[in-house]
Amino acid sequence: MIEVIELKTDRLVLKKLSYSDIDDYAEWKSQDVYHTHLPSKAKTKEEYKKTIESIIKGYEDKDDPNLIWGVFYNDKLIGTVSIEDWNTTHRWCEIGWGLNPKFQKQGFAYEATKCLIQHIFEKLQMNRISIVIWDGNEASKNLAKKLGFVQEGIERQARYKNDKFIDLYCYGLLKEEWK
Ligand SMILES: CC(C)(COP(=O)(O)OP(=O)(O)OC[C@H]1O[C@@H](n2cnc3c(N)ncnc32)[C@H](O)[C@@H]1OP(=O)(O)O)[C@@H](O)C(=O)NCCC(=O)NCCS
Repeated sequence: MIEVIELKTDRLVLKKLSYSDIDDYAEWKSQDVYHTHLPSKAKTKEEYKKTIESIIKGYEDKDDPNLIWGVFYNDKLIGTVSIEDWNTTHRWCEIGWGLNPKFQKQGFAYEATKCLIQHIFEKLQMNRISIVIWDGNEASKNLAKKLGFVQEGIERQARYKNDKFIDLYCYGLLKEEWK
């Protein structure tokens, strides 16, 4: 079982979401622009209430493949970092990230993800972290490179959105490469 425990950086606290975070969560998730390079679509605040409920339920499920840490800055939820799939036999997991556009380009995603990676390698004893990024998502590609991820391949036309097939860029980071 992987637990979402509280983690801290210089500026941020990473911790479980709670029902009271709904306004902050919907503030950015309900913007179309946030979903440009994601399979998801913007939803209403009412719909996101259900999403938060299911995230909170997931915290109690020892086999939940999708574990979400809220990223808090001055007590405000400004984004999430997540383990989106994991396997303790092969000591592998996949991660994801997303920040409220108002708080982007201030180094927050880098700071939060670096902390999560540290936790994954040191405390969760994983050996490998993967991330898959849609073609066109230059912010995420650059963030992955800045964190030390190596581009390992491209799954051609692996996703379909808005009448277009999109290539998936696959990145990996090994424990032995992490400093
Ligand atoms: C990807 C994302 C999380 C980056 O968040 P952020 O907080 O703005 O990123 P940071 O400020 O920590 O930037 C870290 C690095 O990412 C890269 N980066 C961030 N925003 C960028 C942009 N708009 N264009 C190009 N590179 C960018 C840069 O290399 C940057 O390092 P630098 O400042 O030294 O140049 C954010 O754009 C986002 O939430 N996008 C929508 C959700 C999404 O696409 N999730 C990814 C699913 S795979």
